[in-house]
Amino acid sequence: MKWNSAAAVFGLVAPTHALLRFGCSQLTIQRLDPLVTPGQNPSPHLHQIIGGNSFNVSMDFPSHDLVKLSTCTTCQFTEDLSNYWTAVLFFRARNGTFKRVPQLAQAGMEGTKGGMVVYYMSDALFDTAQRSSVTAFKPGFRMLVGEASYKDREQARDFRQLTYTCMENQASRSPETVGFPKTPCKLGIMANHRFPTCWDGVNLDSPNHRDHVAYPETGTFESGGKCPSTHPVKIPQILLETVWDTSQFNRKEDWPEDGSQPFVWSNGDSKGFGNHADYVFGWKDNALQKAMDAHTYVSAPMLRTQSISEQNKCTVRNMVNENFDGWLKELPGGNPIF
Ligand SMILES: *[C@@H]1O[C@H](CO)[C@@H](O)[C@H](O)[C@H]1NC(C)=O
Ligand SMILES: *[C@@H]1O[C@H](CO)[C@@H](O)[C@H](O)[C@H]1NC(C)=O
Repeated sequence: MKWNSAAAVFGLVAPTHALLRFGCSQLTIQRLDPLVTPGQNPSPHLHQIIGGNSFNVSMDFPSHDLVKLSTCTTCQFTEDLSNYWTAVLFFRARNGTFKRVPQLAQAGMEGTKGGMVVYYMSDALFDTAQRSSVTAFKPGFRMLVGEASYKDREQARDFRQLTYTCMENQASRSPETVGFPKTPCKLGIMANHRFPTCWDGVNLDSPNHRDHVAYPETGTFESGGKCPSTHPVKIPQILLETVWDTSQFNRKEDWPEDGSQPFVWSNGDSKGFGNHADYVFGWKDNALQKAMDAHTYVSAPMLRTQSISEQNKCTVRNMVNENFDGWLKELPGGNPIF
C-alpha cells in the first residue's frame, strides 16, 4: 500500500503505522520570523503560524521558554506549545494585484480556523515489522526546511519531499509535485513540508538553521533510510500539511494569458521551488517522547486533547500592524515576483 492512498483514508480506517496526526488552527498571520530574522519587525515576508501563544518577534534560547511562556496552543494536544510556520499563498490577478488565499480545514477537523495538520512519525510507514524508535527533540531545538530564494527544480533537489498536491477533493493525496500545480485545483492546493529526520545529536540550532539536521543517507524516512554518521540520531519526521483554498481563484479567464499559474508565495516565489517551513520545538516535559515510544496510531490517549473551539480561541496580538487582506498593489514587504 502506498502513502498516498492510505493518507487519504485516515479518517475512515485505523492506519497500521505509528504516528501522531493532529490539527492546529491559525495562531496568527504576521510578517515575523523569530528563527531567520529574530528581532526584526517586520520580517521580509508574511508567515502563517500555528502553536503556542508565546510566539514573538524573538524566541532565542534559553531566554524564551515556549512551555513556560505560553498559556495556550492552537494545536489539538495541549502539551504541544511548539510553533510551526510557513509562507502565505497569494493569488496574482491579471491586473497585477494580489489577494491572500484562505486556508481550509481538513476532513474530520471541520471548524478549525485555517492552520495546518501536523504529523510526528516514528516508523517507516506501513512497515510494521520495522518498529524503529526515534529520539524526540530537546528544549531549544529548532530547524528550517527549504530555502525561500530557490528559483528552479535543480536547487529544489537539496530538499526531499517539499511538495504540492492539486486537490480535487479532501481525499486527494497524489500526485505530489515539487513546483506549484499548473492547472486549477478544484478544492485547493496542499503544501507538504517534510522536515529532515537525522540530527547531529549536539546542536539545537545552526547558523543557517539547517546544518544540524540531515536527510537519511539513502532513500527516505519512510523507506527506512539510515542516518549519516555525521547526523546519527533519528528524530521524528515532522510533516506539515496546509490546504490553501484556491477555489475562488479558479476561473481560467483570471489566470495569466501566457498559460502560467497565478499563485505566488508571500516571498515572491511564483514557481513553488522556494517552499519552506520553520519549526521551534516546545512540547511539555517528555510528552512527545512518550507519545513516540507508545507507537500509537493517530489517537494518543497519553496526551490531553482540547476542543476545536478552544484551539480557535488561542491567538497572539498583532505586533506588526499591517493590512494584508483585500486586493493589494504589492505583496506585504513589496517583494518582487520571481
Ligand atoms: C514579546 O516580547 C516583548 C518584548 O520582549 C514582551 O514585552 C512581550 O511580553 C512578549 N510577548 C509574549 C506573548 O510573550
Ligand atoms: C483586479 O482584478 C481583480 C480580479 O479580477 C478584481 O477583483 C479587482 O477589482 C481588480 N482591481 C483593479 C484595481 O482593477
